[in-house]
Amino acid sequence: MQAFYVLATEDYRQLAAARDWAKDLRAHTLDGRIRLLDVACGSGRFPAALLAKGLPARPRVGVDLLDPSGFSIAEARAALDTPFVGEGEHEVFLQDFRIESAYDVAWATHALYALPPADLAAGVARMVAALRPGGFGVVAQACSRSHYLAFYEAYRATFAPDVTPYTDAEGVADALRTAGVRPTVAPLRYTTGTADRGVVEGFLQRCAFDDTVSLERMEADGPLAEYLAGCRSADGTYTFSHEAHLMTWENT
Ligand SMILES: C[S@@+](CC[C@H](N)C(=O)[O-])C[C@H]1O[C@@H](n2cnc3c(N)ncnc32)[C@H](O)[C@@H]1O
Repeated sequence: MQAFYVLATEDYRQLAAARDWAKDLRAHTLDGRIRLLDVACGSGRFPAALLAKGLPARPRVGVDLLDPSGFSIAEARAALDTPFVGEGEHEVFLQDFRIESAYDVAWATHALYALPPADLAAGVARMVAALRPGGFGVVAQACSRSHYLAFYEAYRATFAPDVTPYTDAEGVADALRTAGVRPTVAPLRYTTGTADRGVVEGFLQRCAFDDTVSLERMEADGPLAEYLAGCRSADGTYTFSHEAHLMTWENT
């Protein structure tokens, strides 16, 4: 996991730099406070990136954390600091979320890859329905040609043809449109990389959720070897190309 975030921290740094988030939060304040739903909160890297960049102490942002993993919820809660204050915890899959509050803001940042295609529309519809009228929705997700998706397709083709594909930004955008939302889409293009093979191996194993395949095996054969050869320079340095789609909308 540590190796993964050596490179993946950049995903959240890019997102934090992409907008004036303090302005977005201020603009969606109701009665002096903000109620935020962090969908598939993971270990709270996005709020941590916003805090590292700097946010004003007010307005207070009460955060409900949603994730099927209790471990992730505990990690995300520990990452929160002023103006964020941990409130509700929802240890559920998004598609099973029973909405009890109307949120001012709901975000899902690099969070919906594991939502199976059959549950995507229902999950995204829950997220949209959780926002109050005028509430602000955010999904950041890599598109189909971006590293996470391209790598996973090559990994599936080489080692795991029966595993469910990841959901891409295009699929999320379709699900949002089905839920009645026309999001504004801002593409964020950037690269991450390293010459440290230990970091590359840990990063790629986490991208595949499979730590049984070594970097050497990934580089050896098939579509995955071909994909990785395209990411590797002559001196062995790896560079991964990313295109995340930052989708935002206001609920009508
Ligand atoms: C990469 S993490 C999200 C990172 C997070 N946004 C952050 O800021 O650190 C993806 C999370 O999605 C969660 N997850 C997987 N399937 C899910 C589902 N169907 N509904 C909600 N969360 C899910 C996982 O437990 C995992 O914690």
